[in-house]
Amino acid sequence: MMVGMVYDVAVIGAGAAGLMAAAVAAGRGRRVVVLDHNDQPGRKILISGGGRCNFTNRSVSLANYLSANPHYATSALKRFGPGEFLDLVARHRIPWHERDHGQLFCDDSAARILDMLLAECGTGGVDIRLGARIGTISGDGPFEIANSRGSVTAHSLVVATGGLSLPKIGASGFAHALAKRHGLGVVPTAPALVPLSFAEPELGLMRDLAGIAVPAELSLGKTRFREALLFTHRGLSGPATLQISSYWRPGQAISINLLPDVDARAWLVERKSARPKAQVETVVAELLPARLARAMVSLAGLADKAIGQVRNAELERLALHLAAWSPIPTGTEGYRVAEATLGGVDTRDLSSKTMAAKHLDRLFFVGEAVDVTGWLGGYNFQWAWSSGWVAGQSA
Ligand code: FDA
Repeated sequence: MMVGMVYDVAVIGAGAAGLMAAAVAAGRGRRVVVLDHNDQPGRKILISGGGRCNFTNRSVSLANYLSANPHYATSALKRFGPGEFLDLVARHRIPWHERDHGQLFCDDSAARILDMLLAECGTGGVDIRLGARIGTISGDGPFEIANSRGSVTAHSLVVATGGLSLPKIGASGFAHALAKRHGLGVVPTAPALVPLSFAEPELGLMRDLAGIAVPAELSLGKTRFREALLFTHRGLSGPATLQISSYWRPGQAISINLLPDVDARAWLVERKSARPKAQVETVVAELLPARLARAMVSLAGLADKAIGQVRNAELERLALHLAAWSPIPTGTEGYRVAEATLGGVDTRDLSSKTMAAKHLDRLFFVGEAVDVTGWLGGYNFQWAWSSGWVAGQSA
């Protein structure tokens, strides 16, 4: 028995992917309803990119994503990539600019991106119901969705409830639980793009350096990121740390090169002959902030020594601390602050052409709920736009 209003498409989640899917489906003439438990749509869009929304990246490829099924995202990213999103941004006359690493941001406010999506939904007559607590969902196309804003029936269901990061602004494991109920796999989840925490003695050193940011290269095996590294009261943060955190697994050491542009050993030996009377920390402070230089020199046991009196073998040990310091994180700062979620609905159970479950072609999963996690730099929103667009074409 069908109850409530009947729609062609119900989207759960009024975030980046859900609003895109809704707008595209409505543009195809489908009757669409969007349900969200928050009282405001797109809250993550509004706080993203420091309020300016890094909405995509100039260059997007599979190399910028992590997934247990690495090729899954190809089709969606090709069909609706950064160029297509920029066309939409241009139609809405949203000014933007490019920053380092091809990252594209709004000039004025992230609200422009949300307003654009809401305007597209408005044009298509999408019914957006906020403050809607979702109850039982029955059927498998049509779906009956009990919720606190009045039950709805829809022939297709697009699940766009995102990942687990930032529960305080509405993140939930809704998509993963629903996927499991319908027999889909869920790749284990973990916080991604997240600061790393440390224990003593490294923590003491990092705490003393809190607030210092330096360009650095962080690596784990062959994966390396060269961006800013920030010391904090809890450990390490900054873009380089967030990037490497998505690849880090408990127990692994991360390698930190504080002097990625020089051969640290050769440079120290050269400085030893050029400034033999200078203290080691004074020399290292030629390239690093003084407090950081002092800390690393102390770590190598060379504090208060003139560099001319230090044996080359000891300089080599210092070079290792400067170019391949390998502290082991004790954990991450968790979903409370993570910008993304690793894992999610297993894409091996989804069609890469439609985003629908392979065995249930009216049930779609899009955005961060799915096991596709982007690097920092606009890649996560691009996945939300691409997957939302593709689902909107088929739902
Ligand atoms: P999103 O989380 O946007 O939306 C999910 C929606 O579902 C929400 O509206 C939520 O309320 C709703 N929902 C959840 N559970 C529900 C339930 N049980 N019932 C009903 N509704 C429910 N990425 C990027 O590319 N560039 C950037 O600049 C940033 N910046 C950034 C900053 C910060 C602080 C964070 C936390 C994250 C970013 N990101 C980012 C990541 C980016 O925000 C994220 O990948 C996308 O918002 C994911 O889009 P989705 O639509 O999948 O989920």
